[in-house]
Amino acid sequence: MEKLIEVKNLRTYFNTPEGVVRSVDGISFEIGVGETLALVGESGCGKTVTSLSLLRLLPETAEVSADSLDIAGIESIDLTKEQARAMRGKVISMIFQEPMTSLNPVFKIERQLGEVFRLHEPGISKQEVFKRSVDILQRVGVPNPAERLKVYPHQLSGGLRQRVMIAISLASSPKLLIADEPTTALDVTIQAQILDLLKRLQEEMHMSILLITHDFGVVSQIASRVAVMYAGRIVEQGMLEDIFENPLHPYTELLIASIPGIKVTRGGRLQTISGTVPNPLHFPEGCRFAPRCPYARDICSRQEPQEIDIGGRRVSCHLRTEDKGGEQA
Ligand SMILES: Nc1ncnc2c1ncn2[C@@H]1O[C@H](COP(=O)(O)OP(=O)(O)OP(=O)(O)O)[C@@H](O)[C@H]1O
Ligand SMILES: [Mg+2]
Repeated sequence: MEKLIEVKNLRTYFNTPEGVVRSVDGISFEIGVGETLALVGESGCGKTVTSLSLLRLLPETAEVSADSLDIAGIESIDLTKEQARAMRGKVISMIFQEPMTSLNPVFKIERQLGEVFRLHEPGISKQEVFKRSVDILQRVGVPNPAERLKVYPHQLSGGLRQRVMIAISLASSPKLLIADEPTTALDVTIQAQILDLLKRLQEEMHMSILLITHDFGVVSQIASRVAVMYAGRIVEQGMLEDIFENPLHPYTELLIASIPGIKVTRGGRLQTISGTVPNPLHFPEGCRFAPRCPYARDICSRQEPQEIDIGGRRVSCHLRTEDKGGEQA
């Protein structure tokens, strides 16, 4: 796999009056050229902060460190603000979680889309901007693109707005598109259409996608690899089929079991994971999932599990360490 992104031991902490919030706490992952990696986990696990760390779009209170943050062959941990901006324009684009926050309500679509083309290619003619805007709207499946350019965001349906946002993030021809819960605000039919669209665009443009979601159902439709995040850590990562067929971490197992319509408990009720994600101000000792884990043993609440590699799958769980023949040092 040719790598586009290689992250080693990334930490993003926030200094707050209450203390240090360890939102992302030592994660490592790669994204291959043209591949879709899904980052999955419940609310508050650190998914959005991970993507904002890649984009270097964090508030002043954030402290980012990593052994390596390789973005398209460039070590990006110490980028200046200017360099980070250039990287965002050329390499990574993001579709944000809240659709309305990234579209400006007071400007017509034409202006918002045109801005990206102009930023990317200063001196580009008005006609060319118009032509490319129509092209890209067509590409993302917006009907009557020339007319749609003349409207304001609120005049579009939720599904169309999401397509316009995707168009805007594609206008800079990024190598990586980060899609943060791109479909949560949409109804199921539109959701499926948007996921199909992302899949098609990725194939056509040979771009990589980092798909962020709490929904394993969405993951199964589009991702090739999966990283499962819990309490600032990646607890398991590997190929989609492997993870689905045989989840190695109890958290992954429970996330999969809670997909509606996939696996139902014997009583016929949908399984949910009891308890809540711990507050990143005070993580529990040992394995952070231990307080909620149905398989937890003594060691789990005492000692942090090390990440181990099982046939290309990386997992951090004491149960698996034992399977492999004893605890690791
Ligand atoms: N600027 C900030 N200052 C302090 N804490 C923050 C900041 N941004 C995020 N956090 C905290 O970091 C943790 C991870 O947040 P993040 O937004 O990455 O979660 P998430 O996995 O994206 O959740 P969701 O699925 O709800 O979007 C949360 O506990 C959140 O409160
Ligand atoms: Mg989020």
